[in-house]
Formats: sequence, C-alpha cells, structure tokens
Amino acid sequence: MPKSFMTRVTVNNSIVFDYDAEFSLLDSMEENEVPVTYNCRGGYCGLCKVKLTQGKVTWVQDSLVTLQSDDVLTCCCVPDGPISIET
Ligand code: FES
Repeated sequence: MPKSFMTRVTVNNSIVFDYDAEFSLLDSMEENEVPVTYNCRGGYCGLCKVKLTQGKVTWVQDSLVTLQSDDVLTCCCVPDGPISIET
C-alpha cells in the first residue's frame, strides 16, 4: 500500500480521521488519539474487536478470535477505502 494512501475512518459517527499507512487500524487509531482497547496486538485476545458498519478492510494478520460477519479486529486489519466502525 503506497505511503500516500489516505483513507477516511469514522468512529461511532463522531470521530473522523485519515488512516495513513500505519501497520494496523489500531496503530492508526492510537496515532490519532482515538480511545481503543487492546492487549495482545496479535489477533489472540479479541479486546480490539469493533463493528464494521460501512466499507471494507484488508486483514494484515491472522486472527484466532471467533468473529461475527461484521466484526473486525483493529490490530489485524487496515481500511480498504473509507470505513465506519463502532467501538
Ligand atoms: S489486541 Fe488482541 S486481538 Fe487485537
């Protein structure tokens, strides 16, 4: 993914920031000072799970957590275009 790629992320219909090629959505949320829970950062604990309400993501790490179809782990994915999530 090119460094210049910017993608709009909307959190809880209230916080908006641009993903800027960080390793994961979790890293980008931290970079933009968005409150987020996490522990393992590796797809094991599930604490970073959020609902993807709009858009698509690309998985960058495998997950061992059982997920519903609209769940994503912020430590394991990056936006694939504009997305909306609920924490
Ligand atoms: S922080 Fe543990 S699964 Fe993402």
